[in-house]
Amino acid sequence: MALPVVLLLLCFSVRVESNLFLSDRIVKLPGQPQVGFQQYSGYVTVDEKNQRALFYYFAEAETDPASKPLVLWLNGGPGCSSLGVGAFSENGPFRPSREVLVKNQYSWNREANMLYLETPIGVGFSYSTDTSSYEAVNDKITARDNLVFLQKWFVKFSQYRNRSLFVTGESYAGHYVPQLAELMLEFNKKQKLFNLKGIAMGNPVLEFATDFNSRAEFFWSHGLISDTTYKMFTSFCNYSRYVSEYYRGSVSPICSKVMGQVSRETSRFVDKYDVTLDVCISSVLSQSKALSPQQVADNIDVCVEDETVNYLNRMCRWLSMHAFILDYELLDLEIPTIPIVGRLIKAGIPVLVYSGDQDSVIPLTGSRTLVHQLAKELGLKTSVPYRVWFEGQQVGGWTQVYGNILSFATIRGASHEAPFSQPERSFVLFKAFLEGQPLPEAF
Ligand SMILES: *[C@@H]1O[C@H](CO)[C@@H](O)[C@H](O)[C@H]1NC(C)=O
Ligand SMILES: *[C@@H]1O[C@H](CO)[C@@H](O)[C@H](O)[C@H]1NC(C)=O
Repeated sequence: MALPVVLLLLCFSVRVESNLFLSDRIVKLPGQPQVGFQQYSGYVTVDEKNQRALFYYFAEAETDPASKPLVLWLNGGPGCSSLGVGAFSENGPFRPSREVLVKNQYSWNREANMLYLETPIGVGFSYSTDTSSYEAVNDKITARDNLVFLQKWFVKFSQYRNRSLFVTGESYAGHYVPQLAELMLEFNKKQKLFNLKGIAMGNPVLEFATDFNSRAEFFWSHGLISDTTYKMFTSFCNYSRYVSEYYRGSVSPICSKVMGQVSRETSRFVDKYDVTLDVCISSVLSQSKALSPQQVADNIDVCVEDETVNYLNRMCRWLSMHAFILDYELLDLEIPTIPIVGRLIKAGIPVLVYSGDQDSVIPLTGSRTLVHQLAKELGLKTSVPYRVWFEGQQVGGWTQVYGNILSFATIRGASHEAPFSQPERSFVLFKAFLEGQPLPEAF
């Protein structure tokens, strides 16, 4: 008689543990079309004492989720919502269209189980009950909270515990992604929990001066500023100096003059996140009221599409929760994360850096230079020479791979939020990255 009882108990305890995730299951999002995959969302408490909790949205793979990897996606900002921007404007399964959600044909959950994390606290639905935490938040706290989040998320979703894991993100996630990946590798020394297979970063902030100072040449070569202004912007006051002064609260007269001229010529009617894209006039005009003339538009979060804002506003009311706006200490911005990327490569983690080639905020030229320099420092030889790659019968962009481990790629015609403006090309890039394959060389 004893054996069946033990078996029953065993089954029961296994079931209890593996069913924890069911309470986070989303039956259906408002206005959502019928789909064949599961979605989950909820909170994971990352600090009991200070009551900090991070919000996630998880879309399982469209088909056969058990055989597909787990991909964590982080938006940047700091202050950009991975739910509003990543999941509902870029690479998630749905996009808002007026009152309903429509299927995104190039959703990344065709190839992976996609986990969108709102981080740090203060972003989107992630919060702390101790409001002073919002002012103290920085890269170090963010990385630690993200690590604890994943540890605890794996308790809920134990079926994903040893799954191939990729950490991906965009923009300021050029800080979040490598910082989290490094903590994972450290944690693995004590207990092998994270089956980390690679990281990918789109238009990432990796090294402040190189990334920000490539803006001048990008503006100039795309005809956004004159020869005279280009000279001033590269000699009297470059962009990294201006940003440093700005965040320290004292912009020098020369930088003020140069930036004034740059802003006048580039015009607020050009989207700096995609210099070829038309702007949403109503949102440009409403933003200008909030901005003082001296402020440049890049300090505010213009990355959320209007339709998503409308949809999420309704969703916020529906969930009766508040959305927070983040006030992040930006001094961490100046600390380069490229050395961390180097250490990850030395530990055998494949790295992809990709750039939407119409973005002037973190231009491709800065990212390409940084990747090339890193390859040289690590002694990695070119394994795929600089060449075009194809999506359909058109050039999707250019790529170069070093030592079969460090890849750079551009996405042609793409903005700072590449999967938003070039979903199909971004999807091809994502699939090749997961498979560890070079980008298509022919069509
Ligand atoms: C985790 O997966 C790897 C293969 O990726 C396998 O070698 C290892 O045994 C697995 N570990 C556990 C605890 O299941
Ligand atoms: C930017 O300006 C700073 C301060 O004047 C200077 O130290 C730095 O070398 C400049 N960088 C570039 C790329 O011009």
